[in-house]
Amino acid sequence: MKAVALLALAVGAFIGSADFAQAQQGDAEKGAKVFGKCMTCHRVGEGARNLVGPVLTGVVGRPAGTIEGFAYSPLNKAAGENGLVWTEDQLFSYLANPNAFLKKFLTDKGKPQLATGSTKMVFNLPNETERRDVIAFLKTFSKPTQ
Ligand code: HEC
Repeated sequence: MKAVALLALAVGAFIGSADFAQAQQGDAEKGAKVFGKCMTCHRVGEGARNLVGPVLTGVVGRPAGTIEGFAYSPLNKAAGENGLVWTEDQLFSYLANPNAFLKKFLTDKGKPQLATGSTKMVFNLPNETERRDVIAFLKTFSKPTQ
């Protein structure tokens, strides 16, 4: 009897956490469609090149402003130089409003003098689900961490 109750609890916890993870993680397949909006300016995956925006292959976990040969705005570059790494959480906040995010990041780092000008990324993704999904999609192109 006790064992059954424990098992039920364990299964409940497992299902609960799976739901939670999914809500947090987003859906990479749906994210592929969302990425269509980014493709005006970005490419990802094999053979990707810098276009209007930098290549996004491996962006999850990468320090900001570090793609060789891409002419970043001083704002994006400064954020990277001051410790901005594109974790899933940071991307989630950034994509809602890149300009405001980068300025807040630098201000919070005690560098308000660098929080000037504008990012060249003039695209906002306000929808939370779309943001989670596109991040899940981008993650599938991340290099494995050692
Ligand atoms: C209209 C063009 C455009 C669109 C659309 C666009 N971006 Fe960008 N993105 C840029 C540009 C330009 C930059 C470089 C910003 C800078 O230097 O200030 C950039 C920068 C970025 C960066 C920072 C990269 C780095 O190396 O620091 C990320 C992450 C990013 N974009 C993700 C996305 C995603 C995801 C989408 C779609 C939801 C998207 N962008 C849509 C133009 C665009």
